[in-house]
Amino acid sequence: MVSKKVEKALNDQVAKEAMSSQTYLAMASWAEVQGLEGVAAFLYKHSDEERMHTLKLMRYINERGGHAEVPALPKPPKEMKGILDAFQNILRQEIAVSADINAIVDLCLKEKDYTTHNFMQWYVAEQIEEERLARNLLDKLDLIGNDKAGLYLFDRDLLGRKEPQGAAF
Ligand code: FEO
Repeated sequence: MVSKKVEKALNDQVAKEAMSSQTYLAMASWAEVQGLEGVAAFLYKHSDEERMHTLKLMRYINERGGHAEVPALPKPPKEMKGILDAFQNILRQEIAVSADINAIVDLCLKEKDYTTHNFMQWYVAEQIEEERLARNLLDKLDLIGNDKAGLYLFDRDLLGRKEPQGAAF
């Protein structure tokens, strides 16, 4: 059974993961309209991954005697300043999610909820991978700068990208 405090923290995280999914979906649509087919495919897939993160939390809350809530979400921005700005946003967002996950892990220890602590380790590992990939893509974009041919290749690489085993981004 989860405590009310842990249940609330998990439900707050449900809302954040769901918002991430919406944000990536809006970014995917923006990229598609720009003709960045690979970036769009990558972001659509990532939006699905964030929905999976949401559902995993919801199912856990209910399994542990809580009640998972479906959050109301604000509309994400329709426009991006550019591809670099979009990926900077992604990294910022993932760093923020990592901090949220760590705060829940901390709460679990304070509440002596070792079951939820164990469950959250999946998210801890996931965030390491998500931040790593976001940094890696941002480094590439930094190298590309304003080079259109470089952006073309970046987009094409993302189109053919295979997921490493266990990665969710
Ligand atoms: Fe579910 Fe990208 O954090």
